[in-house]
Amino acid sequence: MASHATARPLIARKSDPLKGRVRVPGDKSISHRALMLGALAVGETVITGLLEAEDVMNTAAAMRAFGATVIRGDDGVWRVRGLGVGGLLEPSGIVDFGNAGTGVRLTMGLAAAQPIAVTFTGDASLIKRPMGRVLEPLSEMGVEVIARSGGRLPLTMRGPRLPLPITYRLPVPSAQVKSAVLLAGLGTPGVTTVIEPVFTRDHTERMLKGFGADIEIADEPDGGRRIALVGRPELKPQAIDVPSDPSSAAFPIVAATLVEGSDVTVEGVLMNPARIGLIDTLLEMGADIEVVGERTTGGERLADLRVRHAELKGVTVPAERAPSMIDEYPILAVAAALASGETRMPGIGEMRVKESDRLAAVAAGLRANGVTCSEGPDWLSVRGGRVTGGGRVVTHLDHRIAMSFLVLGMVAANPVSVDDASMIATSFPTFEALMTGLGASFEDAEVADA
Ligand code: S3P
Repeated sequence: MASHATARPLIARKSDPLKGRVRVPGDKSISHRALMLGALAVGETVITGLLEAEDVMNTAAAMRAFGATVIRGDDGVWRVRGLGVGGLLEPSGIVDFGNAGTGVRLTMGLAAAQPIAVTFTGDASLIKRPMGRVLEPLSEMGVEVIARSGGRLPLTMRGPRLPLPITYRLPVPSAQVKSAVLLAGLGTPGVTTVIEPVFTRDHTERMLKGFGADIEIADEPDGGRRIALVGRPELKPQAIDVPSDPSSAAFPIVAATLVEGSDVTVEGVLMNPARIGLIDTLLEMGADIEVVGERTTGGERLADLRVRHAELKGVTVPAERAPSMIDEYPILAVAAALASGETRMPGIGEMRVKESDRLAAVAAGLRANGVTCSEGPDWLSVRGGRVTGGGRVVTHLDHRIAMSFLVLGMVAANPVSVDDASMIATSFPTFEALMTGLGASFEDAEVADA
């Protein structure tokens, strides 16, 4: 795991028009899952376009710690030789996931249905985040856990000899919790069922199907979905081509929308309906986003997105859209700061338990740059217009806060600085090069006095 002992402050200045064609790195959610299911398949899974960012590299290291062979070729192709469902070995050391919530929560599910003891930890951000939401269903399946108070990391768990299949109704709309239960269900005899009242990203279900698991998805009468997985299948290795991450594409898309005179194409973006709430919202705000070259690979829809500058107006984002853009609210708030009128974002309480309390961090960053906004326990409202800028934003070890406010600096009257850009490497290591290649102007800043 990389250490971020040294903060790297960065300044963004008002940008000239952004021009060009870019491709953002592979999808983080799919990359984690490809490594994990590869580790449980019998034979060799071949992954192209894997996101080579710290979060995913921590998952690769974890799969090695469980005994899988994970190799990157000089051609950038990753090969995972799996151990079969139930074949994970007990890691000899502590499994450290750094900043990665998805990595640690899904891996807890992966390891849950085997009688092995595993100790998990993470960085200063991850050890503050709630793990109880995953530990609770896993405990119902028979897992024993010793965690810090509030179900926090570091924690040690041991799976039972005879795991029990459960039917679990998600109390929070979380793809991570859904996925952890399903991955535990893989090693559990019988049928494990997850009911999700609200549709969340479905990469685990799609990929399980691709690897040959017996999984059935049905609509519930109340609008939710019921996912039933038959345990202990033999997973067949796959060739996986990871599409570009829509959550990373969000930054050049919003930047091109906001910077006058811009014309940018972002290629090969994953267009899974559970991931494109931001695109829908920007279009409602008046953005000029043309969807071209739609195609399907590996069961996922992709497209190139041509984005030209447009004037935006404030909207109310439907609360039920939140799961399909939960990671995109920080950059949406930046777009809202430049839109005419008010943008209201209800139903976003989950933002408070991400890499940072993103609701608080976004509101503080906007205010530091002269933007009027108000926040409640689960909502944010931003009054848009001209942005003065000139503020220094505290990122709280959160990559998306850093990237969002660097985009704000590209359109504010005065430069915007972030206290630490180093965390961007957890999800989008090529962010600075890609944005400056389009025309953005970033420079290193002085470390502020403590
Ligand atoms: C993810 C699910 C979301 C998202 C995270 C990735 C996933 O978290 O915020 O960045 O890959 O399943 P929750 O499921 O906790 O909402």
